[in-house]
Amino acid sequence: MNTPTLESHFLSLTHYLQNFSYLWKPVPFYHLIENQPLSWAENNPDLTDFLKALSNSDIQHLTNDSNHLRNALHKFIPGLAAINETIQLLENPLPVPHTHFTPDKFSHTHIPGRKWEQTLAFSQSLPEVDSPILDWCSGKGHLAGLLFQRFQQPVQCLEYDEILCRQGNELAEKKQQSLEFIHHDVMNPLPDNVNANASFYTALHACGDLHRQAVETCIHHHAPGIAFSPCCFHKINTDFYRPFSQLAKDSFSPSNSAPFWLTRKDLHLAVQQTVTAGKREKIARRREKVYRFALRQWCHQQSIPEREENTLCQKKMSKKLFNQSFPEFIASIFQNETTLLDLNARLHNNNPQLWPSALREGVRNYRWNERAELVRKCFSRPLEAWLILDRALRLEEAGLNVSVGTFCRYQATPRNFMIMAMQAGK
Ligand SMILES: C[S@@+](CC[C@H](N)C(=O)[O-])C[C@H]1O[C@@H](n2cnc3c(N)ncnc32)[C@H](O)[C@@H]1O
Repeated sequence: MNTPTLESHFLSLTHYLQNFSYLWKPVPFYHLIENQPLSWAENNPDLTDFLKALSNSDIQHLTNDSNHLRNALHKFIPGLAAINETIQLLENPLPVPHTHFTPDKFSHTHIPGRKWEQTLAFSQSLPEVDSPILDWCSGKGHLAGLLFQRFQQPVQCLEYDEILCRQGNELAEKKQQSLEFIHHDVMNPLPDNVNANASFYTALHACGDLHRQAVETCIHHHAPGIAFSPCCFHKINTDFYRPFSQLAKDSFSPSNSAPFWLTRKDLHLAVQQTVTAGKREKIARRREKVYRFALRQWCHQQSIPEREENTLCQKKMSKKLFNQSFPEFIASIFQNETTLLDLNARLHNNNPQLWPSALREGVRNYRWNERAELVRKCFSRPLEAWLILDRALRLEEAGLNVSVGTFCRYQATPRNFMIMAMQAGK
């Protein structure tokens, strides 16, 4: 058997994501709010029955463990088991370097728990670095400080928030660390004082276009290497995803018999898993969805035309609106709604006896939405892995030696993939 390569992993994930796009591209919330059926649910009654029978604690459990989720659904969606196998090969922690690094005991002051765990793990996962370091989108320089301690190399920090640069400078002076904060927007050409050719690049949780810029700059300057953990893949300035690697470009090409493409909206799925949402945030999110579904039902009861109903139910609304009772919510919407005057007029016919049934329908739709979302969630980590491999392949195609793995446990951050690329011979 051939040893799996980044390329073979990438091609099998492309195949699965392409084949199953009818399961993960449609967002159940938008379908339900517009009263559009989900075709996979209609064509797969066994899966639908299984999902509908799940309790709230089942949902919680399955949402928290995507591996387990794919195992639970694989009898309805053949292929999920093979996806799990492919993913597992990337989920391995990166090999820990021979020299173990323990920072001094004051390093974690000012850094909250999980952030500290991620930052420390990132700094410990790097191999020996014997060149200056360029930390991309450094924030206050928490990572940069650890890298300085570990490698005793000067670190330049690129950061566009002036306050963070100032705070970072103050902290570094206090700790007598050689960190240089450069107030700079990384989307612009680098200033002359940046050591772009000779530095090893690092980027912990830099968003879409920002880490793309780091990768391309590192390649352009033939820098010694880069280690980064991408996040917020959807934060890009184009509506469609621009592939990094030639292999991905080929799979996107219209001349491909089954072209694979991604919109900015699709990319949201890759970062959908969070471990950071607190209880209050979860309750607020639930209430917002229930109210939106209930609003749809309420509009329906008032015979409001479907087009107006769709616009209204998906409209951007202040979070404060959802902190009220449902009747107060309805009343404030129509008070604030100046463009849909017709609706205002119809509010006079508003019958309070219909509120409870609208709300009941809202809860019913919410329950189904939660269950239908599980199908989409099966593909969240595979899509993230695909995006990681696209970046890794770009670096490999440029001649660097690349490894991919995790740098910390998933509970510390779901964005725990790291791509490490070293210039051959450096
Ligand atoms: C998610 S934070 C990561 C910070 C740091 N690497 C860490 O892990 O603590 C992203 C950082 O990128 C900075 N940033 C965003 N856009 C930027 C840009 N165009 N140029 C430079 N820095 C930017 C933000 O101010 C923020 O500090």
